[in-house]
Amino acid sequence: MKEMKKISMVEKYATPSKSNYFKLDANENLVLDKKFLTNISLDSLEKIDLRKYPIELYEKLYKKLSDYLMIGEKSLVLGSGSDQIIDLLLTLIGRGRRLTSIYPTFSYFKTRCQLHGILLSEMMLSSFDNTLDSKKFIEDAKKSHAIYLCSPNNPTGNQFERSQILDILSTLKNNLVIIDEAYVEFAKYSLTRYTQEFPNLVILRTFSKAMGLAGARIGYMIANEELAELFKNRIQSPYAVNSISLAIAISVISNPDKVEKSISLIRDEREKLYQNLSKIKKIDVYKSDANFLFIKCNEEYNRIIEALENTKIIVKAFDNIESYGNCIRITIGTKKINNKILSVFNNIQ
Ligand SMILES: Cc1ncc(COP(=O)(O)O)c(C=O)c1O
Repeated sequence: MKEMKKISMVEKYATPSKSNYFKLDANENLVLDKKFLTNISLDSLEKIDLRKYPIELYEKLYKKLSDYLMIGEKSLVLGSGSDQIIDLLLTLIGRGRRLTSIYPTFSYFKTRCQLHGILLSEMMLSSFDNTLDSKKFIEDAKKSHAIYLCSPNNPTGNQFERSQILDILSTLKNNLVIIDEAYVEFAKYSLTRYTQEFPNLVILRTFSKAMGLAGARIGYMIANEELAELFKNRIQSPYAVNSISLAIAISVISNPDKVEKSISLIRDEREKLYQNLSKIKKIDVYKSDANFLFIKCNEEYNRIIEALENTKIIVKAFDNIESYGNCIRITIGTKKINNKILSVFNNIQ
């Protein structure tokens, strides 16, 4: 009962949903054609045999992912969303252990640390430009067992300097270093290949964002073969991803044109929206390497959220983040939606 009481103190994961609204609060890829995914899904359903465990489908997706990432299959482990892999990694780290991360970052990670009884030390980013003081970070991380960094970071949207992360990796060889690359397809660089150099590095990736498959729940981790093998055969459950999701992921990764086109459109729209919002004096918009923009709304916070709601746009609101104040995070959607956003902001000038 004591445990239940403790768990009830863990912050709830909010999943807001209003069906007739533009949902720009969860960083999904809403630019990707829905019909394309529906056709792929129907096709996949016809091909699979639900009576069987998905052995061949697993093999096929590992092969496709290996080609896509240019990394050996033995370095890959699939999971039911990267959320599920995060839970297993935290189980591996263990109750009572210490973990160093940053603030602000992916809120789910923080609440899962609470659930797993892991002591989280959060190093504040600069609210001026989201930079990280890596010297301070390394000093703190020396006292920890593990590290979690999001690259690009959610919600701030920025990638840290590659040299900074490499510095952290090469200094902290005894810590498990988890780099969450959920948004990396929209960013400048990936650290995937460094998993072969640093046996303590785990990269998390997902089909939920750029690939447009948040509903299919597929994530994966990349690590050196020894760690990946241990994780795959002793920690992960044998069939964490179902046949339908596997078959859909195989089809999407085999037909990359539409996904690539949507990524390029989102990047262009992100730059356009960033440039236009930067002209508005009452807010501060941060440069982004992801498929969303993080905006400091200052005194206009409530007015902006209300105006967006009136336009049927839902964004992720962050009340009074330490040193940042009131902020919102907006997923980059289609040109049409972005123009709507812009006109809302132009009206609050
Ligand atoms: C940084 C980060 N990691 C992981 C996830 C979860 O991804 P998945 O859908 O694969 O569980 C998210 C989703 O918002 C995220 O922002």
